[in-house]
Amino acid sequence: MSVRVPIYLDHQATTPCDPRVVEAMRPFWSEEFGNAASKTHALGWKAEQAVEDGRGRLAELIGADPREIIFTSGATESNNLAILGLARANRDRGRHVVSLETEHRSVLDPCRALEREGFRVTLLPVGNNGILDLDRLRDALDDETVLISILHANNEIGVIQPLAEIGEIARARRIPVHTDAAQSAGKLEIDVRTLGVDLLSFTAHKLYGPKGIGALWLRRGSPRLRLEPILHGGGHERGLRSGTLPVPLCVGFGRACELAGELRTEDARREAQLAERLWKRLSTELEAVELNGDAVHRLPGNLNISFLGVEGEALLIALPKLALSAGSACTSASREPSHVLRALGIGETRALCSLRFGFGRSTSEAEIDLAADLLIEQVTRLRALSPVWERAKRGGDGP
Ligand SMILES: Cc1ncc(COP(=O)(O)O)c(C=O)c1O
Repeated sequence: MSVRVPIYLDHQATTPCDPRVVEAMRPFWSEEFGNAASKTHALGWKAEQAVEDGRGRLAELIGADPREIIFTSGATESNNLAILGLARANRDRGRHVVSLETEHRSVLDPCRALEREGFRVTLLPVGNNGILDLDRLRDALDDETVLISILHANNEIGVIQPLAEIGEIARARRIPVHTDAAQSAGKLEIDVRTLGVDLLSFTAHKLYGPKGIGALWLRRGSPRLRLEPILHGGGHERGLRSGTLPVPLCVGFGRACELAGELRTEDARREAQLAERLWKRLSTELEAVELNGDAVHRLPGNLNISFLGVEGEALLIALPKLALSAGSACTSASREPSHVLRALGIGETRALCSLRFGFGRSTSEAEIDLAADLLIEQVTRLRALSPVWERAKRGGDGP
């Protein structure tokens, strides 16, 4: 069977836009081009209807009420809106925010911005498996805590946090919980009524939708959540996110959510099988390969593997037929060891010897088999050339 190269194994960075999504968006670029906020003519009404249909599909995927969905430009903006918006609106109640060391930069950086505004931020550590210890969370909360932000599934190691238990602890103290679900929405089953959180960020381009659109789910009902907008202007999205809505993207995001609802279970089953297939070959045909992050509580389509003695970047250069990443897309350019792997207690050298594999809807067994052949060949070749490998074999780098 022929395989198209490069073989795309970077689905945590982004996913291809599904052709059915592209088709759904098509009329809204130049035929149905109205502004959804134009209330005085049919082009505006049609645009508004298309946006609301899209919103309904997003809501359905996560078990929400459409009125709880705020369109944004992506998960980065949703995370900023949730964290800055909620903390600032509640600063009279307290100035303490709790999050996790292994969060995405779009959570960590708004937390840092809050510190500059006089908030205290506690970043909780994780265990060697990447999972939060709930006792550490309990101990961190105090009367000043106004927000807990804990990501659902990690973008580098795929590890899933116990949101239901986190939500229970938070509810007992009436502290709202936000989760960054950029990696899990459309992949794991999500029902916001039982997930245990109050706000949830997600984004279209990780679930076969277009880039440039995301959403924040904001629970309605009591106790009422107070949120301050970070963008000011025409008062769109119930005053919480001003700016003309990108109608084609709203439609595409909606269609992508609809497809995710239909295909999620089968996608997850296949991706888990592909991950198992690759891991089996690498771990039996190569020595000294380590899986990073919990082996069970992880996204079905993710593997993060250390190839001891071989620098991840060097391995990528030796593998032009594979498209994958040595870290998250935003930090992999820096050649710094990943903060996520370091938080798991992994040594600097091993962290730099790691690759992230992300499988998706179109990944085939033939692609996995070819990827395994190439990886085994190149890891073996590079190790034969590497003095670091000799040292690592003798146990020089710790964990
Ligand atoms: C966990 C996580 N949060 C947030 C983001 C940012 O999403 P977006 O690209 O939609 O801004 C990403 C994407 O890299 C992610 O993986």
